[in-house]
Amino acid sequence: MSTLLSVKNVSKRFEVNGRTVQALEDVSFEVERGECLAIVGESGSGKSTIANIILGIYGPTDGDLVFKDEALPAKRTQELRRAIQLVQQNPLSSLNPRRSIGASLRLALDVHAIGDRTERDQRTGELLEEVGLPAEFRTRLPASLSGGQRQRVAIARALACQSELVVLDEPTSALDVLVQARVLRLLKSLKEARGLTYVFITHDLSVVRNIADRVAVFEKGRLIELATTKAIFTRPENPYTRRLIGAVPVVSAQEAALKDNIMEQENGNA
Ligand SMILES: Nc1ncnc2c1ncn2[C@@H]1O[C@H](COP(=O)(O)OP(=O)(O)O)[C@@H](O)[C@H]1O
Ligand SMILES: [Mg+2]
Repeated sequence: MSTLLSVKNVSKRFEVNGRTVQALEDVSFEVERGECLAIVGESGSGKSTIANIILGIYGPTDGDLVFKDEALPAKRTQELRRAIQLVQQNPLSSLNPRRSIGASLRLALDVHAIGDRTERDQRTGELLEEVGLPAEFRTRLPASLSGGQRQRVAIARALACQSELVVLDEPTSALDVLVQARVLRLLKSLKEARGLTYVFITHDLSVVRNIADRVAVFEKGRLIELATTKAIFTRPENPYTRRLIGAVPVVSAQEAALKDNIMEQENGNA
């Protein structure tokens, strides 16, 4: 595997009413081509801040980012905006309510000049089908879709222009559990079919168990543990990681035993 993105010693401070908020502190990690790296942590741990920095919505206070062996500039080129895409928690706020689904997808293709006119029209239908929606949804407005369908549209838009790295910030957190599972399956198959790289952000460790290759755990702006998903679930090293796993619903007897074990350790530590 080769490295697609490196985050090097990134810190981010916000000044709010004369007070300094340290949202990220000396965070370093690498994202390998073709992997799904999960970023997990409680609310306020800095997850969306690192997403915004990767997307170039704002820059870090300190530190550097390297994408495909080149430093990521503060002002992103068109090519970089094409290559790195975002899927947010709430597609209602990211999709223009007055624009049809087809027009939203079409806009992404137009901006990045993918194909000619007729190809783009055809492509919007194909994109919808790729995310499990009928091509006829082109004419619908976002408000007439369910939450899960809207999130599929947001995913289709992120994939429209042959993106390479997709940052998913709590993509299933607003969906109910069954819809969540279906969207996760879709994300997993799209990743495999297109050879995508994901940074998958969530406050809920159980969400990433089946999709993540590795998990980075954030606590109060610091990266406190990074390991393979298997290692995180079977031998978490940090007490904070153990607590996060303790909050995950149990699925197998083996995991139940492990969870009891971890809870005991936690109680023992308290
Ligand atoms: N634009 C901002 N201005 C001021 N403080 C911010 C801003 N964005 C995030 N923060 C603060 O930075 C910390 C991390 O926030 P965030 O990255 O959104 O956490 P998470 O996504 O893990 O819930 C929080 O204390 C939050 O209040
Ligand atoms: Mg967030």
